[in-house]
Amino acid sequence: MGDKHTARLSWEKQIEPLSSSCNLTDWEYVKPHSVYERNEAIFAEFKHTSPEDGSNRLILGNNLDAMQALLNEGREGTIDLIYIDPPYLSEIDYSSKLNLSDHKIQRSAFQDKWPRGIDSYLDMLYPRLKIMHRLLSPRGSIFVHLDWHVSHYVRLLLDEIFGNDNLVNEIIWCYTGGTGSKKHFHRKHDTIFWYSKSTAYIFNPQYRPYSRQTLERGLTRVKGPKYTLHEQGALMQDWWSDINKILSPTAHENLKYPTQKPIALMKRIIACASNPDSLVADFFAGAGTLAEAAEELGRRWIMADNSELAVTTSNYRLLKRNARPYLIQTVNEVRNEGILDLDPIRISPCGASNLLQIQIKDYKPAEITDDLELTAAQYLEYWELDLDYQGFFHSDYQMLPRRRFNGSLDLSLAVMLPVRTNYSIGVRTHDIFGHTTTKIVNVTNSSPGGEV
Ligand SMILES: C[S@@+](CC[C@H](N)C(=O)[O-])C[C@H]1O[C@@H](n2cnc3c(N)ncnc32)[C@H](O)[C@@H]1O
Repeated sequence: MGDKHTARLSWEKQIEPLSSSCNLTDWEYVKPHSVYERNEAIFAEFKHTSPEDGSNRLILGNNLDAMQALLNEGREGTIDLIYIDPPYLSEIDYSSKLNLSDHKIQRSAFQDKWPRGIDSYLDMLYPRLKIMHRLLSPRGSIFVHLDWHVSHYVRLLLDEIFGNDNLVNEIIWCYTGGTGSKKHFHRKHDTIFWYSKSTAYIFNPQYRPYSRQTLERGLTRVKGPKYTLHEQGALMQDWWSDINKILSPTAHENLKYPTQKPIALMKRIIACASNPDSLVADFFAGAGTLAEAAEELGRRWIMADNSELAVTTSNYRLLKRNARPYLIQTVNEVRNEGILDLDPIRISPCGASNLLQIQIKDYKPAEITDDLELTAAQYLEYWELDLDYQGFFHSDYQMLPRRRFNGSLDLSLAVMLPVRTNYSIGVRTHDIFGHTTTKIVNVTNSSPGGEV
């Protein structure tokens, strides 16, 4: 049927031409090893490993370029599951608010405003869906998360690109809470379209607990002797009301990234449409919910986002959960830097090792409003160390705050390293606006503190 019907969504297209020469630039290799306090010196070695197969990576940049670069790398037909939660044409500038020392801080996350309304929105999404179709494996699926603003238009794009025969489910995710309206019914559901690449898609059925009444009376009495209760529960339907939105600002899961989706939702999608050997991807990654769920379920993952705040938040989240090593890459993107001041690194002999003491003296973001006078520990969200910098940043240790955004980040660290005459130490900071700053310090045993 897919080939025979000719109905199409049409609009005045002004789609940017695709650049076929996109390449990903390696920016950092992260081996999560979080440190929360400097009370005890870290005993470290000089041992860098390399990413195994290029999976598990977080890309900063426009997802069209990122996906084109993945195709250029030969990743066509390799991804089993793509989940996307793109902007919804909500006409909102999304930002995240923090209260720090009586300052109300507005952190810009991403824009969902379109100069030609629906036309430019479709111009954005159409070529991206086409590339995603190419990246999917024959057993692959895409889940496209939308709401009432544009779901009706996007469904037609998906029909055209994937074939309407390949619509597997229109999933309705119902939730409660938040604001309502007296002018219409409260809008409390999102739509998730699930399309497969072919009929050979992966599907692992999911189950929900039986209701109390069903358990009490037993299924057999209602449906006849052929039906018995299953150990795992009842088969899941296409409307999900058992997972709520992240509502509480203090919820453990809440990373203060606007539009962040619950991890339980992501785990259900990954569990049903991928296998443990699958590569899964999210090209509108936001706070990195997909990668955390993939880590929990043991899948390999790729994520991309063009917002620095999204990438910094995802990175924090992966460090916090002690993820497997991953690569951070950029595509046509220059990261914003702040002003980082380090105290000279002190070296002192300590048994068979040398003790290096590293201290951040001060930090200021590049652009700050005059009335915002925060300390370095408040401006910074976390920082990382490369103990043997050789031209490319390997994050060996990460200093995280015990409690996020409360100024409790420790700015000094003591590291025990094997004795050498020269050390090349990389320090990379991440601030609350998503900006990163890197300093490389070359230190010699005789005259510490020589910065490059
Ligand atoms: C609705 S949010 C995703 C939220 C995410 N599902 C989560 O759980 O946190 C959409 C994300 O898409 C990103 N985005 C929008 N346009 C993009 C583009 N052209 N390339 C890469 N990322 C983009 C935004 O920066 C934003 O973080």
